[in-house]
Amino acid sequence: MKPELPPVSDTFVWDTWMTMYQVPAVAVAIDLGIFDSLHESADSPSGLAARRNFDERGLNALLPMLRHMGYLLHHDGLYSLSELATHYMTKDSPFYWGGLFTRVGKTLGPYKLLLETINMERANAEKNRPADGWESGHVDMEMARTVTAFMHSHSVTAANGMTRTFDFSQTKRMLDIGGGSGCFSIALAQSREDVHCTVMELPTICEIAGEYIQQAGVENRVDTVVVDMFRDKWPAGYDTHFFSNIFHDWSHQTCLDIARSSFSALQPGGRILLHEMLLDDQGTAPSHAVVFSLLMAMGTKGQQFTFPQLKDLLTEAGFTDIAWQPSYGYYAIVSGVKPG
Ligand SMILES: C[S@@+](CC[C@H](N)C(=O)[O-])C[C@H]1O[C@@H](n2cnc3c(N)ncnc32)[C@H](O)[C@@H]1O
Repeated sequence: MKPELPPVSDTFVWDTWMTMYQVPAVAVAIDLGIFDSLHESADSPSGLAARRNFDERGLNALLPMLRHMGYLLHHDGLYSLSELATHYMTKDSPFYWGGLFTRVGKTLGPYKLLLETINMERANAEKNRPADGWESGHVDMEMARTVTAFMHSHSVTAANGMTRTFDFSQTKRMLDIGGGSGCFSIALAQSREDVHCTVMELPTICEIAGEYIQQAGVENRVDTVVVDMFRDKWPAGYDTHFFSNIFHDWSHQTCLDIARSSFSALQPGGRILLHEMLLDDQGTAPSHAVVFSLLMAMGTKGQQFTFPQLKDLLTEAGFTDIAWQPSYGYYAIVSGVKPG
């Protein structure tokens, strides 16, 4: 049965989660001397990365976040200190808060991961992030269960919201690539009786998705298929390829490879749909996408994208008619067509 959508958006819950990255972000910026470096001279993420031997992708995520918190200004591609940071975040200021953040930051889980990300020590970091398993195609059952429950929590409301805002009338057979718990396929099957969905996932996640599908009572129209999207042949016979929170896990080149795999497996005339939180065209706002990008920089090979970046990527893979529209909460759907 199709669940009623809550009368309040879950963006408030997203904000609660996202705020936990604020203290680690400031603490890492203090401990790595980022505020002091930008006090010496304003810089771009690439300039600062070169000057201090930092990870550029990490800085591309961290600096916009510090800006949203009021510590940095951004003008003509350069970041500089705001008055707030000049007085409270630089070592030589008599009002320096560094002692507090240096101590508190170290007590918080994301601090170490963020420090390693910016400092380019990821290669030495413990290999216990879900994305390490995704890359190898092997995720053990314990990790699969906790990560899928985590994804389900942050996606299930957006999945149900999406079926109210996006026009799926052209969709008859949807392949939900990296579909996790299957919440998007389940929500679509519950809202349209003429649709069949398949969750394409790694083996352990397929097993877990099967449980969610059965619990929702849609096993007659939602199934799973074990396919490693990087190594195996993708199934044919689908008019819609749906990707939620997939492109944001990977580098530009890997996303291009994924888009090309999709293009060759999709039916002519079929659509690719990317469900993502979009950055604005400058890549520095809105704040929820900026923080989500920082999470991706820490935990995956990816980042949030702007619409022009995704448009270029899909165009390069062969898709046409690329457009975007808001979906539910903080999400948007970018769509493209494989010419018929
Ligand atoms: C960020 S989660 C997104 C889950 C779901 N689409 C959502 O939005 O909640 C990424 C998903 O991609 C799947 N995945 C990662 N690598 C994969 C691979 N090589 N082949 C198939 N699926 C993969 C993971 O198992 C995981 O469920």
